[in-house]
Formats: sequence, structure tokens, C-alpha cells
Amino acid sequence: MPATKIVVNIPDEASYAVRVGVDVLDGLGAALRQLPAVAAAPRLLVISDDNVAPLYLDAAKASLSQAGFRAADIVVPAGEGSKSLAVIGEVWEAMAGLGLTRDCAVVALGGGVVGDLAGFAASTYMRGIPVVQVPTTLLAMVDSSVGGKTGVNLEAGKNLVGTFKQPAYVCASTATLATLSEREWCCGCAEVAKSAVIDSDDFFFWLLDNAAALAARDEAVTAEAIARCVVFKARVVSEDKTESRGVRECLNYGHTLGHAVEALSGYGTYSHGAAVAEGMRFAARLGTALAGTPEELVSAQDELLDALGLEPLAWSAAPEEMLDAMKRDKKARAGVVRFVVPVDVGRWELVDVDDAVILEHLRAWEATKA
Ligand code: NAD
Ligand code: GLY
Repeated sequence: MPATKIVVNIPDEASYAVRVGVDVLDGLGAALRQLPAVAAAPRLLVISDDNVAPLYLDAAKASLSQAGFRAADIVVPAGEGSKSLAVIGEVWEAMAGLGLTRDCAVVALGGGVVGDLAGFAASTYMRGIPVVQVPTTLLAMVDSSVGGKTGVNLEAGKNLVGTFKQPAYVCASTATLATLSEREWCCGCAEVAKSAVIDSDDFFFWLLDNAAALAARDEAVTAEAIARCVVFKARVVSEDKTESRGVRECLNYGHTLGHAVEALSGYGTYSHGAAVAEGMRFAARLGTALAGTPEELVSAQDELLDALGLEPLAWSAAPEEMLDAMKRDKKARAGVVRFVVPVDVGRWELVDVDDAVILEHLRAWEATKA
């Protein structure tokens, strides 16, 4: 199957290519040789984690070395814990210790954690050097590797420190997905479903038809789903690069309730994707009361999420606790909880919802779990 190339054009940024295909990792070095921002780099630094490095670091470095690059590497512990001030501090020190100069570049080889960490390292080291994203999770391919959000977590919350740093190139090798766990696969599927509902009828009904194949990791369907998500995300980010124009917020569909589920059930109990899927079900139902969302959308979305293996959670918390958790989320403004609600497939609204209305819907949600 030939690779797909999508060009991301964002105002006031250098455009960049996202290549999606089975064997694009083999061509990583050759692709970077064609990139003006990276081609002459005296040294590259590959940042990866200790799950991904044993699987794909040698292949990535071999491709870079065949293209004549000198590449060093830093391997951080896998998991969200590496998006920390302690680990970014170690990465910065290691970059300085390796003698990286402003004409060097970073290659992020891993999931969203490595992508966010390495992107942040690249955007801050010497006030910014190029970063290339080589996503290895479905979530990172369909969402986090494109659009330029980078960052680390603080004790006070996730992603509280970060930058916008667009990559110079994104290399999404679908071959790397073969080793992804079922839990991480489902996580990515939730973000694909989110993109499809917000994007268009065309994407949504294509996904509904192909959901079982995506859940079963069919190669062609997976590559097409990634490409469709990248095209969608590139459009959103090109309209609202810094999430300041009321457009990029659509990417938070499902996340208002989802974040509360993750926080109250204990991080890691349910995957981020499972929590987002629960949040999408809730937000669509809220939409029927607040935004005229058709019941048909609610049931078609339920069907889609079920087919992707994202069944409703057998878990709930008291409505008042859920509301409190939503208010503590950094997306809440002045204590008012905001939801992205789908008005219809391909149309959405950002709605500030009164506490009383949220509580009423949370009681209905809790009742379905009894
Ligand atoms: P992750 O990076 O933690 O990866 C999940 C797990 O899969 C890890 O244990 C990792 O080591 C492992 N893994 C990665 N690739 C693998 C492979 N090919 N084979 C086997 N194991 C593999 O998690 P994620 O879901 O990719 O990303 C989540 C992070 O992304 C969060 O920190 C979130 O805040 C961030 N995020 C960022 C954006 C953005 O726009 N920057 C968007 C969404 C999410
Ligand atoms: N995943 C959220 C964003 O990129 O804005």
C-alpha cells in the first residue's frame, strides 16, 4: 500500500508534511535530508521511552545513519510520569551535555507522552530547535503529533506548562502499531471517533461502516482513518493555531466529562480513550436538551463507539462529585463548566452549562449505571 502524504498549512508557520504508511520509518532519514530546517543538522537527538526504544530505536537510527546523520538518543521511562519538570530537566541537561547546538534537531519517537515532552524540549532548548514527530501510538498519529501542542505536567494539573511548536515533519509508520496493546488501540479509536463526529457526515458514516475493521486493526482502514484525522486536525489548527479563536476547542469533545471520570475513578483505572468515549455519549445527550442535537446522532454515535470496543463504563460517581471535578478542570472558566456539544454530525457548539442542568443530566447518567 503506498504511503499517503498530507501537507499541513498553518498561517505564519512553515508548512510540513505528514507521511502515513507501513514502511515510512525506513525512509525517515531520506525524508529529513529533503527538509531545509533539518537537512544540514550536524547532530540529531532521538528521544524515546523505554517501551518504544527496544522496538523501534534501532530502525529509526539506522535510517538516519544511512542518510548520513549522526544521531544520539535519550530514553525516558514510559508513561505520563515522564511529562514532568524532573524529566524535562534531565533532558535539557542531556542535550547540553551532548553539545547540541542551534542547528541540531530533535526526533520524538513514541506516543503522545514522548511527543509532548520532546516537542517541549525542542521548543525551549536554545530558544528553539526543530522537532520531527515519529508517533508510534494510534492516538499520537491521529491527534497529538500534529498541531504543535507540547508540554509537561505540574503537580497542580496536566499540561499546565507548554508551548506551541509545529513539527518540521511527521512520520507515522503504521507498522509500529502492531505492538500496541489493545487498551492503547482503543484509546486511539476514541480520538478517531471524536474527530469523525466533529468533522463531517462523510468521515462519520465512513467510520461507522468501517468501525469493526478499525477495531480489528485492518491495515488499509487504519491508514485511511489516520489520514482523515490528520486532514481534519490540520484544518482545525490552521483556523485556530493557539486555541484563541473558539475553533480548536472542538478537539475537546468528550473531554469535559472524560477528565472528571479519569480524576474520580483514579488515573489509569480507565484509559483516557474509554473516558473520552463516555464523555462523548454524555455530551451528545446534553446536546439533545441544549442544542437540538438529533436523537439519531446519539444512537448512531452509541453504535459507533460500541463497534470500536468503547462500551459504556460500568462505573459512576455521585453527580455532585462529578460536577466538582469538572469545575476543577483547567478548561472551566470562572467556575462555569463548558461542553463541546455536537449540534449535528459535522457541527458543534461550545456551551456554558448551568450547574443545575449538568446535575440533572448527571443524575440520568448515574441512573443508567445502576
Ligand atoms: P503514551 O505516549 O504514554 O503511550 C502509551 C503507552 O504505549 C506507553 O506505555 C508507551 O510506551 C507505549 N507505546 C507507544 N508506542 C508503542 C508501540 N508502537 N508499541 C508498543 N507500545 C507502545 O500515551 P499516548 O496515548 O500516545 O499519549 C498520551 C499523551 O498525549 C498524554 O500526555 C496527553 O496529554 C498527550 N496528548 C497531547 C496532544 C497534543 O495535541 N499535543 C493531544 C492528545 C494527547
Ligand atoms: N488535542 C488537543 C489539541 O491539539 O488541541
